[in-house]
Amino acid sequence: MEVIQQVDAMRAWSAEHIRAGRRIGLVPTMGYLHPGHVSLVAGARQRADRVVASIFVNPTQFGPQEDLARYPRDLEGDLAKLAPAGVDVVFTPSAEELYPPGFDCYVVPQEMSTVLCGASRPTHFRGVCTVVLLLFRITRADVAVFGEKDFQQLQILRRMARDLWLDVQVVGMPIVREPDGLAMSSRNVYLSASERHEAVCLSRALAAVRTAFAKGERQSAALLAVAHRVLEQTPGVRLDYCALADQATLQPTTVVTQPAICAIAAYVGRTRLIDNQQLLF
Ligand code: PAJ
Repeated sequence: MEVIQQVDAMRAWSAEHIRAGRRIGLVPTMGYLHPGHVSLVAGARQRADRVVASIFVNPTQFGPQEDLARYPRDLEGDLAKLAPAGVDVVFTPSAEELYPPGFDCYVVPQEMSTVLCGASRPTHFRGVCTVVLLLFRITRADVAVFGEKDFQQLQILRRMARDLWLDVQVVGMPIVREPDGLAMSSRNVYLSASERHEAVCLSRALAAVRTAFAKGERQSAALLAVAHRVLEQTPGVRLDYCALADQATLQPTTVVTQPAICAIAAYVGRTRLIDNQQLLF
């Protein structure tokens, strides 16, 4: 496994493999990897001849009051997880090279980025789209794999690839969970022992919604009431939102008649956690 930091070297590597007729798969990450990230590598390996994983804590997707400075980092540990997973190149660009002085062009998603997490993180998805487009261009990936854990991100990136005619297939992979149901996240390290205990209420609430949906409930208000009943049992948890949205447009739904998601964002202590459950027919 090679580690490449320079953009030019990454571009040269990709050019060589494309010349040889190989398909390149990309797994973008911000590092501090867990089994959820590693599952994306497996998805990329199935769909490509060579796999690039990127590790870059992208400053443009963090708001001014967010955790950019304290975001957890462990490059050595990350490399030890990626090598046995079958990654060919780990791309670790610097912020100075991706965003040189005078950098002025961003990808700004519209309707899909103002709802759910976009309501409280207004510039987040512009930062995500911009850095992912840079990574697509630099690696020249044919396929890029993302987790359904960040469902809004996945759908916005799918729309970006479609709207901008990017020749990259955007693939989603299922959420990987801890044994008790908590969705794996790099941010789970922030949780104290008692907060870790409380955090499981997000996945519990979603499981209750899934059960109600499976029993035939289709009214969003009723499904959300089921989630709120579970969330209210954990007083330490401060809800940002709990919402039902159409999967394709991410707009709120009042009756679930098409594939939807129930999505939750909540603060456990100072840590903001997200989780979601797809509601499929
Ligand atoms: P990061 O939070 O590091 O996540 C990298 C990828 O791992 C994302 O596609 C995310 O959805 C996926 N992932 C995280 N936890 C997961 C879990 N429990 N199960 C399955 N997949 C999981 O998302 C980002 O970084 C950034 O926004 C990025 C796309 C890299 C752009 O900077």
